[in-house]
Amino acid sequence: MHIDSQMLAAFGECRNKVIYVFENQLFRLQICFIKKRRNTHTLSKKYAVEDATFTVRTNTNVFIYPIGPIKIMSNNKIHIFDTTLRDGEQVPGCKLNTSEKVAIALQLEALGVDIIEAGFPISSPGDFQSVQEISLAVKDVSVCGLSRAVQKDIETAAEALKHARRPRIHTGIGTSDYHIKAKFNSTREDILQRAIQCVKWARNYTDEVEFYAEDAGRTDNEYLAQVIEAVIAAGATVVNIPDTTGYCLPYQYGDKIAYLVNNVPNIDKAIISCHCHNDLGLATANSIAGVIAGARQIECTINGLGERAGNTSLEEVVMIIRQHGHLGFHTDVKAPMLNPISRLVSDTMRMPVQPNKAIVGSNAFSHSSGIHQDGFLKDAQTYEIIAPDEVGADTSKIILTARSGRSALAYRFRKLGYDFNRDEVDKLYEQFLQIADEKKEVQDEDLKALAVAMAGVEMN
Ligand code: KIV
Ligand code: ZN
Repeated sequence: MHIDSQMLAAFGECRNKVIYVFENQLFRLQICFIKKRRNTHTLSKKYAVEDATFTVRTNTNVFIYPIGPIKIMSNNKIHIFDTTLRDGEQVPGCKLNTSEKVAIALQLEALGVDIIEAGFPISSPGDFQSVQEISLAVKDVSVCGLSRAVQKDIETAAEALKHARRPRIHTGIGTSDYHIKAKFNSTREDILQRAIQCVKWARNYTDEVEFYAEDAGRTDNEYLAQVIEAVIAAGATVVNIPDTTGYCLPYQYGDKIAYLVNNVPNIDKAIISCHCHNDLGLATANSIAGVIAGARQIECTINGLGERAGNTSLEEVVMIIRQHGHLGFHTDVKAPMLNPISRLVSDTMRMPVQPNKAIVGSNAFSHSSGIHQDGFLKDAQTYEIIAPDEVGADTSKIILTARSGRSALAYRFRKLGYDFNRDEVDKLYEQFLQIADEKKEVQDEDLKALAVAMAGVEMN
């Protein structure tokens, strides 16, 4: 990262200290002191300063280095671009009809997303109709239609979007050498011209034009910057930097966005968008790295649906942004709707959610190990960073298995109306373990049978 003289002056008195610099409003600097203790580094103090000219006084043995780009950003709202109905729906087995799509679009609008990508109008009459019906149905959200860098695609998208209050054409072309050579048998110069042309065509129809540089994740940064500068000059209002193959590591994707922020002279005329696929399980991490580096839109899907291993999961990025308020970002998404909409999408598409899926999986708020259950019952925050009602999930569950302890057992008995004393719980626990070793999970019926037997013994 380039540190200019102003930054060095700010760091002058901080030599031997650790400083993490975050891109943020008001040139905010975040400072971490790290004590060296028996070769391990321990974070001992952390605070933010709203001014670049500060002094740090410390006698601990620490180091200084800035990370991330430094740029004054005036708007830290992250625009949520939902592509469940396009990138999510194109997955085998996830096909929806028009009325199902409209029902989901209305819920996405209520959820508070900023843009709904409603489909790829040229791809089929059904998709065309869905984009048209969604454009008529929603009011407070941009409706987006996908197209290739082909005039007919763009005209068809414009036609499908003509009733939308805020129509957006999403057009673009592959920019990596893999795409340029294998897909198009072309040259970088030709692709650059086609990119400019498609944006100009789209601008004849809509004020919001989003350009995607397909496979930007594997595109040479210098060439990518050249394309992005040219499409913004041609009228693109949003520039999408897809990691189409899910290849990048978070620092690489973040560096790519930072490179564009620092090397595209007209970048302030457009919003940078992250569109990350999950082939290495990094889609969410990459999107967050992207916004930390300067992007202000995330393309994502409910339940992380999408091509192959899926897209960035909407519920994950929204909750990361909420949980990590120090990043200074916000979205307009209403978190308590996250679980209901996850179920709606899963049921309508008949696509089950994996039980351990963050935020919306059936196990996301279940505790099954005895150590965790004991801590959770003393204070939920020992093992939960999010309260289930914050994301519209059912209450936290204590699952009884052979790994559960006495406190979880006593708790579940109390829930069933049995308040046993310590000795009774000890006796019941031995019997419980026998059942738990036979069954995977001990159910309320098993506990009631144990409780009745115990009451019978007590009465005799
Ligand atoms: O993954 C991708 O590159 C895409 C583009 C069409 C935006 O879905
Ligand atoms: Zn995609």
